[in-house]
Amino acid sequence: AIKLVTTVAGLHAESARLLREKQGASQGLVPTMGALHEGHAALARTAVEQNDVVVASIFVNPLQFGDAVDLDRYPRTLEADLALLDAQGVDIAFAPLVEEVYPGGEPLVRITSGRLGEKWEGASRPGHFDGALTVVAKLLHYGIPAAGRAGGVGLPAYRAYFGQKDAQQLALVRRMVADLNFPVDIVGVPTVRSAEGLALSSRNRFLSDEEREAALVLSRALRLLEERANAHEPLDLESALAMVESQPLVTLDYFDVVDPATLEPLAENCRETPFRGEALALIAAKVGPVRLIDNAPLSS
Ligand code: PAJ
Repeated sequence: AIKLVTTVAGLHAESARLLREKQGASQGLVPTMGALHEGHAALARTAVEQNDVVVASIFVNPLQFGDAVDLDRYPRTLEADLALLDAQGVDIAFAPLVEEVYPGGEPLVRITSGRLGEKWEGASRPGHFDGALTVVAKLLHYGIPAAGRAGGVGLPAYRAYFGQKDAQQLALVRRMVADLNFPVDIVGVPTVRSAEGLALSSRNRFLSDEEREAALVLSRALRLLEERANAHEPLDLESALAMVESQPLVTLDYFDVVDPATLEPLAENCRETPFRGEALALIAAKVGPVRLIDNAPLSS
């Protein structure tokens, strides 16, 4: 059964015990903010498949919220979260209080996400990615399996799991780990969707039935681009845009096709010439009161 720990010392003790007991050669970390759904479950399942010991963290990080209301409103469902993680075979749930993670209050020294953190989501949420990367840095450190903990059989492999759903976050985590030499392999997990195509998100619970239906236009527009890319046709961003704009409950924020690593827009000619290569279509919109994001990796 899953073991709940709330301190870093408790996490290290339990991870050490399990690595020893299982003669473990690898540890996986799945960072979350709780309010878990099937998207998080997919991350946990992938981590369980690939590692001997798996830790999932549940921590609503104040540093990445713009306003206090949003932070207070964030759903907290610990009992259900533990049951979901247990069902996927996660060994340890790490659910610290804010004081455990930020004992001296907000940290003085932080991670800066740079230009990559200022565009797209960063443009409407200033400071969000600095706050997210700062806590991800701390969580990645907490989860390092120490050599000693594995019983002296060498350094266990260390992997951390992030959803493609938050494409900009994933790109930034990859850059942070590469730029600052974190000893961890970052694994991206494909977006989990409802049967109708809506990308699962903890915010979907705030959509009315009508808004939920309207929100499907985001994934439909992405699918249109995917179909074009798969057929080596020009990416018809105009038609995809028109599709979104025809939906009165949806207010578009951005919709573009970008380089998957830098998130810089592709040259205009991807809209006129047959598509070849790798790209990422990014979309963000307000549906009623709820801001939603989605994306589709394009490859052909
Ligand atoms: P949270 O929103 O709880 O998401 C935790 C992880 O689940 C992220 O890596 C996210 O991309 C992934 N995820 C969410 N919905 C998904 C879906 N439909 N399909 C696949 N994966 C999905 O992202 C965060 O928390 C925080 O910023 C965090 C990284 C924990 C730092 O605080």
